[in-house]
Amino acid sequence: MFNDQKILFSGMQATGTLTLGNYAGALKNWVTLSDEYQCFYSVVDLHSITIRRDPADLRKRARDLLILYIAAGLDPEKNCIYYQSHVSGHAELAWILNCFTYMGELNRMTQFKDKSRKHADNINAGLFTYPVLMAADILLYQADVVPVGLDQMQHLELTRDVAQRFNNIYGDVFTVPEPYVGKTGASIKSLQDPSKKMSKSDENPNASIYLMDDPDTIIRKCKRAVTDSGSEILYRDEKPGIKNLIDIYCAMTGKKPEETEKEFDGKGYGEFKAAVGEVVVDQLRPVQQRFEELSKNKDYINRIIKENSEKANYYASKTLRKVQRKVGFPDRG
Ligand code: TRP
Repeated sequence: MFNDQKILFSGMQATGTLTLGNYAGALKNWVTLSDEYQCFYSVVDLHSITIRRDPADLRKRARDLLILYIAAGLDPEKNCIYYQSHVSGHAELAWILNCFTYMGELNRMTQFKDKSRKHADNINAGLFTYPVLMAADILLYQADVVPVGLDQMQHLELTRDVAQRFNNIYGDVFTVPEPYVGKTGASIKSLQDPSKKMSKSDENPNASIYLMDDPDTIIRKCKRAVTDSGSEILYRDEKPGIKNLIDIYCAMTGKKPEETEKEFDGKGYGEFKAAVGEVVVDQLRPVQQRFEELSKNKDYINRIIKENSEKANYYASKTLRKVQRKVGFPDRG
């Protein structure tokens, strides 16, 4: 499509405030992957309205998330960073793919079941067909790889099935994408309950470090993190609290768990927690600073939004026209 680099697609929803888990598990990997792939990183706002949102709040969060992609280190001149809602091809392809996806397949999606339970008063058709829109996102750009968390793997499997089904009928139209599961920091856990994922929607603010937390708050949250009985810094399943803190430390510093055990050999929990807090502060500080600067630079951000949505539309419409022709829609002359 562009050069000989493979194509990568991923996206995040602008819900809640991003946590250290989102940063270490996704964004940081996205930055690394952007050297190797031609990347499309979308703020998937169409997905966001499957749950009721306050419009002003959604708009603000979506813009903040887009700015955060750049602040985290993604070069918007090289990577296509854009809003899903600015490319109508997502919704158009989703409609077509809806006609190639079975009710039974969507009924099996565990995220649909979870979300229907959580939002029992608003089980809308969009929530049900959410995975089809996600398939459209990916297939629209002929993505070869999709970095996703384990919770999205079922949706990616469905994407592959739908792509193959379509290709079997109409010939090779879609690239069948492969998942990419990050190696480091893939699962940072709650600071208050290390059996749970660190989540944007956790009700306990001490459970998560938010990307925009100030240094004092970060240090305090690390100090208050639940730890296990004993006093040694060891990377063991029986010590899930310390294990999680070691994972955080390693995700921030690039060190290995064994190195970290050695580094803190003979030191206590208190000292280790303080060190974790410090490396998190050091890592987030430049991201926060860039975020503040970029947020003020409205013209620059607006230009990025405009140029990248044009670029995304260009590639999206290539695939869309092909698909429309294949299924039998009339030529445009
Ligand atoms: N559903 C994903 C999530 O909630 C977000 C998403 C939407 C996505 N479209 C995508 C992720 C396409 C990867 C590729 O995390």
